[in-house]
Order: sequence, then C-alpha cells, then structure tokens
Amino acid sequence: MKVLKNIAKLYAVTAESPERVIEDAALVFDTEKIRWVGPEADLPTPYANLDALDAEGKLLIPGLIDCHTHLAFAGWREDEFVKRALGISYLDIAKTGGGILATVQKTRAASKSELIARARIFAREMLKLGVTTIECKSGYGLTFQDEIKLLEVYSELEVSQRLVPTFLGAHTIPPEYRDNRAGYIQLLTERLIPEVARRKLAVFVDIFVEEGAFTHSEASQILTCAKSFGLLPKLHVDQLSNGAGAKLAADLGAVSADHLEFSDLEGRLALATAGVVAVFLPFASMYLGKQAPKARDFIEAGVEVALATDFNPGSAPSYHLPLAMTLGVTLSGLTPMQALKAVTLNAAKALRLESKIGSLEPGKVADFALIDAISVEEWLYHFAPNRCVGTFVSGSLQVQAGPGVC
Ligand code: NIG
Ligand code: FE
Repeated sequence: MKVLKNIAKLYAVTAESPERVIEDAALVFDTEKIRWVGPEADLPTPYANLDALDAEGKLLIPGLIDCHTHLAFAGWREDEFVKRALGISYLDIAKTGGGILATVQKTRAASKSELIARARIFAREMLKLGVTTIECKSGYGLTFQDEIKLLEVYSELEVSQRLVPTFLGAHTIPPEYRDNRAGYIQLLTERLIPEVARRKLAVFVDIFVEEGAFTHSEASQILTCAKSFGLLPKLHVDQLSNGAGAKLAADLGAVSADHLEFSDLEGRLALATAGVVAVFLPFASMYLGKQAPKARDFIEAGVEVALATDFNPGSAPSYHLPLAMTLGVTLSGLTPMQALKAVTLNAAKALRLESKIGSLEPGKVADFALIDAISVEEWLYHFAPNRCVGTFVSGSLQVQAGPGVC
C-alpha cells in the first residue's frame, strides 16, 4: 500500500458530488484498489507511515476513459480531408469508394502483427495523455476472417491500459454484399456474432445507422441477436442527419448512443427515459464540419453525457482525449467540470464499468493521472500538447513525464 501526498487539488468525480474539489489532498492505494481519499491533514494514522509518493502540487484526476475509438486500422485518409475542404461531403466521398471502405481495403491487406504494432503505438501515446481505459471497435474488416482478426488484435495487444472491445461488423455493407444486404446481415447474425460471443472477443456490439450504412430494421435485427448472445448494444446514430436514431437506441435498450449531432428533443427525452448514455464525439463534428450536439439540451432533458475521441482514420484522426474535452467545452458547451465527468464517471457508464472505474473513491481501481495545471478549468482552457505528468493504472505508475514528478 502507498500514499500519494501533496496533491494541490483532487477531483474525485463521485456520483454524489461530481464537482467537489479536495484541496491539499492525499490518496491511499494499492495495486487492487483505492483505499482512502481526503485532505492530507485528515490522513488516518495507520496510513501516515506508508511509503509516500510526492505529487508535487499537481492535480489528481481519475484515469481518463476513451469510451469510443476505432483503434485498429491501416492507413490514413488525408486525401479525403482535402476533398472535404474543397466542398465534397463525407457521404459523397463514401459513395465513390472512399470513406470507411477505403480503410477496409487497407485493413484487410494488413497482417495482424502490423495492426498490433500500430495500435500499440497509439495506445502508448494515449497513456501519456492520462488515458487508462480504451474502448476499441472492429469494423474495418467486414469479412468473417478480417473482423475476427481485428478483435484478435485487441485480445492480443499488450498495453498498460484496460481495453474494452466492441464488435462493429455492422459498420457498412462491404462491396461483396452491395446487392445482397440480407446476406451480410445473415453473416453477422448467424456466424460472426455467435463466434464473437463464444470466444468472448467483445463486450459490446455496435452498428452505424445512417443513409449509406444500416437501417432501423437491420439494426433491430442485429442488436436483438447480439443481446440474445449476452453482448451489449451500442449505436452510432444521427451523425449526418436526424434519422430518429436516438429513439431507436432507447427502444433497443442500448448502453450508449454515440454522435447525436442531429438528434431532436424527442430523441433526447427517449434517451433520458431509457437511461442511455449520450456519447459526444467532437473530433467527428469538427472534422466533418457538423454542428456539435449541445450539452445543455441533453443535460436539461436528463441525459448523462460522455465524451470520446472516436479515433479513426476518416472522421476523427486524433486520439487526444484532453483536446476532445476542450472541444466539448467550446463546441458543445459543456463546462470544464462537466467535460471531466464526461471522460471519467460518465464514460465508465457508457462502458457499464462505473462500479469499478471512473472516480477516485475507496473500492474503485487505482487508475489516475497527475495533471500539471492550476485547475481543471485552466488545463482545458490553455491547450498544450500534454499536461499529464504521470499515469497510474491499477496502482502502478506507467508513464512519468516532466521534471521530477513523484
Ligand atoms: O464514428 N460513423 C461511422 N464511423 C466512424 C467513421 C469511420 C470512418 O470514417 O472511417 C465514426 O465517425
Ligand atoms: Fe465511431
């Protein structure tokens, strides 16, 4: 057991008081759990003689949780970045063979070890930013073999973080099935989902519901099948148009509904009633030039809001979760404290892991990050490449940056 002392401000982000800041704090932990949190002056005597680490007056926050990424893929799509700048839309690029299918082609051609090597680099960089849990989707294989290959990348990837894999075979219809959509749904429901469940290769099943991707009835068929195998539903909805996707996510009992740029009041109320977490993805809104969803509209409707990077080679080519938090403030109107909750406690909820991670309180896993800033407000306001100076996963210091931390 160890004690971390000299924490200028500790942001515990508990469900009871998510915005409480403990000044001059200490935290007692071991490799299993957090044991005690509070003002250093109140440290109970049995803990006073433990091995002490010095936080050197930094901030302490729960380990960041990126609850929506497409971590394993091959190549980039900077050509599309240029096309969009010239006024060609994401959908039109996809209709002419670009978009998701361009990455599918490259990812199919990549070996598992190439994909692992690349994903490992991304995960390592995310760790340096304070990210301790990463949700990671398949979805760039779209054949039996290539979707399994992507999920095996996640199960074989040796990184410090906790990975939460999601099966996104329903990302788009692959070219071989363009004239046989029913055949692809059959591949998903009769072969892939049973195999993914049997081998425990994913926790969630996700689907992209949009023009050019999947319809409501296809989503309902795929996610009903997923649920029957014990896999939990997530959806990409209302990203490019209001397709009543939020309501669909609520009707299907999804754990989260992600994107939501075009959701309306009816959709927001449905999410609130069904307890579906709304995941905002500000990089995707920004890169595709879409108006980001407004936090106040969702919070006033009673919806819990999480934030994630959506890291992928097309619509969101960045794994920088703290920058996504800043954009959550500027584009969606979250306060900095709401942005912090959106990548900790609420992101944990979007992964059904809120009993284990997402806040700093006794009994939770000892995942946390030290931030070199005056406050969370100042951290997110004054953007710098990396203000994280130490990341702990399960009580072990994984990366340490900056001069003399701890
Ligand atoms: O979340 N919307 C669908 N899927 C991804 C984009 C994938 C891509 O463009 O490669 C997203 O934005
Ligand atoms: Fe996505």
